[in-house]
Amino acid sequence: MKEKIEQVNRYIKENRHRVNHCYRGKFHLLPPIGWMNDPNGFVYYKNEYHLFYQFYPYDSVWGPMHWGHAKSKDLIHWEELPVALAPSEVYDRNGCFSGSAIVIDDKLVLIYTGHVEEGNVRTETQCMAVSHDGIHFEKYAGNPVIGEKHINGIADIADFRDPKIMKYDNHYYTVVASKTEDNRGQILLFESDNCFDWRFKSVLLVGKEDQGIMWECPDLFELDGKWVLIMSPIEMKRKGNQYWNLNSTLAFIGGVDWESGYFQVENFHEIDGGLDFYAPQTCVNDKGERYLVAWQQMWHRNIPTHDLNHGWAGMMTIPRKLSIKNNRLYQEIPETLTSQLTIQERFSGQVDQSELVFSSAVKQQQYLILELEKPEDFELIYARNVINQQGVKISYNENNQVLSLGRERLGHKIIGKEEPYADIRHLNISDPPKSLTLEILRDINSIELFVNGQTMSMTFYEKEFGTDIVLTNADKLNIKTLEFYDIA
Ligand code: FRU
Repeated sequence: MKEKIEQVNRYIKENRHRVNHCYRGKFHLLPPIGWMNDPNGFVYYKNEYHLFYQFYPYDSVWGPMHWGHAKSKDLIHWEELPVALAPSEVYDRNGCFSGSAIVIDDKLVLIYTGHVEEGNVRTETQCMAVSHDGIHFEKYAGNPVIGEKHINGIADIADFRDPKIMKYDNHYYTVVASKTEDNRGQILLFESDNCFDWRFKSVLLVGKEDQGIMWECPDLFELDGKWVLIMSPIEMKRKGNQYWNLNSTLAFIGGVDWESGYFQVENFHEIDGGLDFYAPQTCVNDKGERYLVAWQQMWHRNIPTHDLNHGWAGMMTIPRKLSIKNNRLYQEIPETLTSQLTIQERFSGQVDQSELVFSSAVKQQQYLILELEKPEDFELIYARNVINQQGVKISYNENNQVLSLGRERLGHKIIGKEEPYADIRHLNISDPPKSLTLEILRDINSIELFVNGQTMSMTFYEKEFGTDIVLTNADKLNIKTLEFYDIA
């Protein structure tokens, strides 16, 4: 693998100057050049967060997968590291697909899917790699560690991927995504005493008919006394305001019976209600705090940075701090970010005009908080362009307690031909609020909404940057807080 890694790192060094920076965020992880999808190997190692990702540096479209690598002390500033994995062996020659990481005795251990295609035959097996310095990785000589013999009669080797590893009760466990014969998602559980020799334990959970034709990127963890199983279903059926993207994300909350290896579902819901959010993965730090990060994009879309020849495509979300409230995932902006804000403008009280306009208030990196007592309908147009009046549209409907986020008619078009639903998403506020706290995080082309613990994530590509922030129905609102901050 060494040669392949040297070759790809050389390519990145020699070509990265070709990347156009116009839409590149400052506090989100992006590929230095080329294509990025799923977060991989998110782990806390020697007092730093390491985050790997599905990476094809040679073009801004998906290709044979490598693992890009970065680390951070605060989840906001990322330091780029050399590429960690490249396809190089018989068992991973068409790609090192998604996977995860664990720390064992100061070593950083990765488990990933070796992807092979021969004609129409696809083989996916689970493989490992080890690093002593957290930078250079060596593939394990005994690869693949989980393959055909482990799943004979249980699942198809053609759709068997994205291992997420964890340690519990002195055993190592790995959950792996697969599908049933009749095209429903299922998650398989494997067990090991030494982390390298694996045995099949159970089918942890099988999806219902309307829960997608295949599940990808599972993650299983304990949080606030519950077990949580998250994954990304392909073609989950749209239901009310949920699951509008072609592929969605799901959180199951409940318990695990470790004798049988079955997950007992108490509740489930979509993880993020926005347009661009897929394949989330979590990591826990030394204080026991758990953070979730996802690919802030979606399959089958036209990505403008590719269409415009900017030389890169794909980004991560901001990592969100997780907890459980009312048997649901509750997501918050990390304190490492909110503690770095510089106040720009503060507004509160009663207004007599119906439209509040803050001219030239928009920053390319910005945090905005709007707190309303007894919320009424409103529309917040963020980054409204003075000439064409377009901007990111956030609106709240008090009648049915739905928050909407849209990029219709805004900038470069994104939605792909295959997608039936327009550039707008709606989120049911799960716990009808007496007060509504809406936080907006903007990093050039990314907007993430946090509202009472729920989130909506979206990318947008303005042709000319909008400058104004507009709040409608302002005279009917009881504004407790309205503040804008610059993110330095
Ligand atoms: C999810 C996914 C994974 C796979 C990877 C390939 O987005 O399809 O299932 O491992 O992307 O890049």
